[in-house]
Amino acid sequence: MNTQDCQELVKRDKQVIAPCQHLSYFPLAVEKVQGATITDADGNQFIDFLTSASSLNLGSCNPVITEAIEEQLQKFTQYTQAYCYNSKSIAYAERLVSAYPGGVPAKVCFGNCGSDANDAAVKFARAYTSRHKIISFLNGYYGNTYGSSSLTTCTTRMREKMGPFLPEIYSFPFFGVDCDDATCERECLAEMTRAFNSYLPVSDVAAVIIEPMQGDGGLLPAHPIFMKKLYELCRANGILFISEEVQQGFFRTGKWFSIEHYGIVPDCIVMGKSVGASLTLGALMGKAEIMDCLPAPAHLFTLGGNAIACAAGIAAFDYYKTDEFQRILADNTALVWSEAENLKKKHPEIVSFIRGFGMSMGIGVTKKNANGTEESDLDGTFKILYRCYELGLIVISVAGNILRIQPPLVIDPKELQRGFAIIDQAMSEYAAGKISDDVLSNRAGW
Ligand SMILES: Cc1ncc(COP(=O)(O)O)c(C=O)c1O
Repeated sequence: MNTQDCQELVKRDKQVIAPCQHLSYFPLAVEKVQGATITDADGNQFIDFLTSASSLNLGSCNPVITEAIEEQLQKFTQYTQAYCYNSKSIAYAERLVSAYPGGVPAKVCFGNCGSDANDAAVKFARAYTSRHKIISFLNGYYGNTYGSSSLTTCTTRMREKMGPFLPEIYSFPFFGVDCDDATCERECLAEMTRAFNSYLPVSDVAAVIIEPMQGDGGLLPAHPIFMKKLYELCRANGILFISEEVQQGFFRTGKWFSIEHYGIVPDCIVMGKSVGASLTLGALMGKAEIMDCLPAPAHLFTLGGNAIACAAGIAAFDYYKTDEFQRILADNTALVWSEAENLKKKHPEIVSFIRGFGMSMGIGVTKKNANGTEESDLDGTFKILYRCYELGLIVISVAGNILRIQPPLVIDPKELQRGFAIIDQAMSEYAAGKISDDVLSNRAGW
């Protein structure tokens, strides 16, 4: 594969762009993305199982969205909401609140990205409850502004050298579906309860902010027992329950919001990524009485909720509601799971689990150590994903040994199958010892 122009771009990038902005897996310089096909600067083509980190749920350059963007571009690109109103942000907010779980009256506060939507969650929770302590969950990724990185605990690289962070944030263990029911029942709130009984007065806790399915933490759905108990604890103690849906929202897990898998009506929902249907947008949506608690300009941004992003969001929202989309989603979801099951059957020595919801899936890569017990295979994971790249598939890893499977929801089934065939080939080559250790020098991930 020729990657000369990509390599050249990587060199130029290093001269002018701060290194903290790339988690590099391979020298992919994107030139064009159509649907689920990425073309790099050298003309190489790849199937997209990353979907721009789950921010292109309907694929790149989806005609439905492009048309809406072009139409809005003819009118105005952006005019600040700080002093004015516009029909696009209003119409998009009307649609978003109509999808609020449980049909409760809700309002939206727009921003620029998922990170500042998490900042909004902290501000609104503190203001509404007149309490200041916030609970987040270990291994969670909430974003990179100061507020959201104060909630984040999935890597010390988002903390080192930059403290102090926002005070009064406490992180507790997240219990996922990888935990058995009895342990979950016994342990899931134990650490929190110990804290409440010793140094953390529960009456000072404003909110818990939780990803119902951790994304970068390992594509790990929360254990239903954990979610139920956590929700009950919140209800019993006047704590807001905030669902962090930045990565899993907008049908990534098969529903508008991943919290719907748990039958919980949250107090607020944090949105980012696909909320802008490919453009820069973030939003916090919450029960109306909560969203009414802050005066302007407590949380507004010059470009927040910009008209083009809202126009794109409206077009995507309306498409999500069509029978056509729902049919494609159901078919692709069934296909993704059957392909993954086949992979697991074919490579039992490599694939230890598949997990997730809908089209948000983690494939766990493990190996047997000298004692015969299973352990995460970090090098193997990287070798497999790098080989996939060489063979024409973009897939990355999270939490070290988990392949992140998040293709566009509307991907052509043939491309989906071809993507899994590539993973299959890469795993076979890895099992046969055909992938050199040399590829590990490309690893500059988390
Ligand atoms: C769950 C989650 N929350 C928040 C963020 C931050 O979003 P953004 O990068 O748009 O600020 C991300 C980004 O990966 C995420 O996955």
